[in-house]
Amino acid sequence: MTDRYAVMGNPLGHTKSPFIHDRFAAATGQDIAYEAIEAPLDGFARAVDAFRSGGGKGMNVTAPFKLEAFALATECSSRAVQAGAANALLFRGNDVLAENFDGVGLVRDIESNLRFPMRDCAVLLLGAGGAARGAVPIILERGPAKLTIVNRTLSKAVSLRDQYAAFGDVACGGYADLPDNVFEIVINATSASLYGQALPIRAGLFGRTTLAYELAYGKGLTPYQQLARQAGVGRSIDGVGMLVEQAAEAFQWWRGVRPQTRSVIDAITVPIA
Ligand code: ATR
Repeated sequence: MTDRYAVMGNPLGHTKSPFIHDRFAAATGQDIAYEAIEAPLDGFARAVDAFRSGGGKGMNVTAPFKLEAFALATECSSRAVQAGAANALLFRGNDVLAENFDGVGLVRDIESNLRFPMRDCAVLLLGAGGAARGAVPIILERGPAKLTIVNRTLSKAVSLRDQYAAFGDVACGGYADLPDNVFEIVINATSASLYGQALPIRAGLFGRTTLAYELAYGKGLTPYQQLARQAGVGRSIDGVGMLVEQAAEAFQWWRGVRPQTRSVIDAITVPIA
């Protein structure tokens, strides 16, 4: 029998998740149907219940429901607990299991696909919201020389630093506190690019071998990427690889088989002029 999965978010217009999971299912011979469900902003829990009672086996969760998904789970992985948010759910009997694969998707894309080891690197993380929270513990597991977290609201960067100070050399600050030096990896984990907004950062952060990573995807050349390119950055990448890698993690969690990701990343990458 065909097993049902879905992605739930609002808005969902541009979601690539059904395409990704259809490709994974075809490549691994899994009999699944994967749909996109735009839940009402005030009706996430109801939409989850309806999907479960219709035989749904699991789902991906995207903005703005990641916190609610975490809250309604009966069992949460350590990664979901660390992030305080879930981006994947698995339904087993009466249990709702929650996972968060965003951080692992990001790190896999940087290290495995882009072949950019994070060990001993100076990493700058822009933002301290949900996306950044999920990424910090996974980045620290990779052993960077130093992780600097910068956020517009300083208190959020400070609490993230305090939470993880025992796991590596972690510094934090506001944009005005950014040191005048080059970082090896600069990750834009803010939501500024979703709204076409520029960040108050200087070109001097980017060197010729820096990897400038943009978590957003499908937004064309964002102000962040424009700045990085003008600065002559080594590589400027958007979040398509992260999206596909986190999807592959969820697929493996649900189906017990890990799909290849390269051809799917290539299929949905939009070349940026
Ligand atoms: P997400 O789940 O995408 O991380 P979020 O939790 O709302 O969304 O976090 C958004 C992040 O983008 C925050 O770090 C936010 O900064 P604040 O904590 O100060 O709000 C950051 N952000 C959004 N727009 C920004 C902008 N124009 N300039 C700087 N930071 C911005």
